[in-house]
Amino acid sequence: METTNENPAVVETVLDGSRFVRACLRRPVDRTPVWFLRQAGRYMQEYRDVRKHHTLVEICMQPELAAEVTITAAEKLGVDAAIIFADLLLPLAPMGLPFEFQAGEGPVVHHPVRTAEDVRALRTDRTDELAYVARAIEKVAAHFRDRLGIIGFCGAPYTLASYMIEGGGSRNYINTKRMMYGDTTSWRGLLDKLVVVLTEYCLLQVQAGADVIQIFDSWVGSLGLADYRDYALEASKRLVQAVQKMGVPVIYFGVETAGLLSAMASTGADVIGLDWRQPLNEGWRTVGYGHAVQGNLDPITLFAPLEVLELRVKEILRAAGGRPGHIFNLGHGIVPGTPVENVQAVVRMVREFRLEEAARG
Ligand code: CP3
Repeated sequence: METTNENPAVVETVLDGSRFVRACLRRPVDRTPVWFLRQAGRYMQEYRDVRKHHTLVEICMQPELAAEVTITAAEKLGVDAAIIFADLLLPLAPMGLPFEFQAGEGPVVHHPVRTAEDVRALRTDRTDELAYVARAIEKVAAHFRDRLGIIGFCGAPYTLASYMIEGGGSRNYINTKRMMYGDTTSWRGLLDKLVVVLTEYCLLQVQAGADVIQIFDSWVGSLGLADYRDYALEASKRLVQAVQKMGVPVIYFGVETAGLLSAMASTGADVIGLDWRQPLNEGWRTVGYGHAVQGNLDPITLFAPLEVLELRVKEILRAAGGRPGHIFNLGHGIVPGTPVENVQAVVRMVREFRLEEAARG
């Protein structure tokens, strides 16, 4: 029997699909649930085969394809949760900002938001155009029923605002910070509009069957603590709490967030996603044990020999110490070229892990 379980009766009652959701709520489970950021993507042959015939946005917009890609990845890996195949940028289109993915370049927004007038022109009344994501979730939910947790997701207001303003990825976020500091009224107006759209978008996903919502604040690590508190926290908090009112737990994730963790936890998110730059136990202590945590293997460790990989996986599980509320994951997404068999090996390692055995070394 596994030491993560406080009550032997729980072993009987933990259904495969509820293991992940229970862990989000810090309830005891029979073993640590595991899934991977970007578990469906170019590292997987099956995805590349679909991608040969369709663009990324086509896959997202055709529920049949999005569901297939989601299901194939989750089944191939044997994980405890399936994240719906979509992209962070999708809500930009109904807001009036067309974008495209250029090969090797990442997303490009054609007319970035730079002025007060640009912010005023953004639409918040067409979120129903994102219903194709809900249709895909329904298909995934019908397929898995209670076997797996289903994760819906969206970007956090700060991270999406940075894409809208920079027009794509960025190194220094100069345009973003220029608006944030220099035209704070427009900045707040932009975040307010994002909160409206993202709340409705999450509601679509929850109504379609998402068990948990993950909010990606991928680029929040570009902010110092004072700027996070003054310019980003409040909007994230409103979104987190609006989603929780829909009756599902929220995972709030960012990268390079060691200095932001306790502020991020003050959003009230059920789970905080940790990157790999600090040990999981230190991150969890900072977040506070009133929250679950998700993480935090360096995705590039998946290129290491199995012995090294196993050492790191066990270190993370030992750092979690069997405390209820740990979801095993990476500290950021799987990158192209990652050997699939190593990802599968990590699933096995997490499934087979026993705390006493690890303590013996
Ligand atoms: O299983 C999954 O997680 C896939 C679903 C998913 C995608 N994007 C599909 C995708 C998810 C959860 C995302 C989220 C996303 N999108 C984030 C947040 C996650 C993170 O990494 O922090 C961000 C920042 C984006 C924006 C985005 N989309 C970028 C910067 C890129 C280009 C980067 C690259 O790897 O080329 C994308 C493209 C993208 N979105 C791909 C996938 C599978 C790869 C490209 C492809 O098929 O052409």
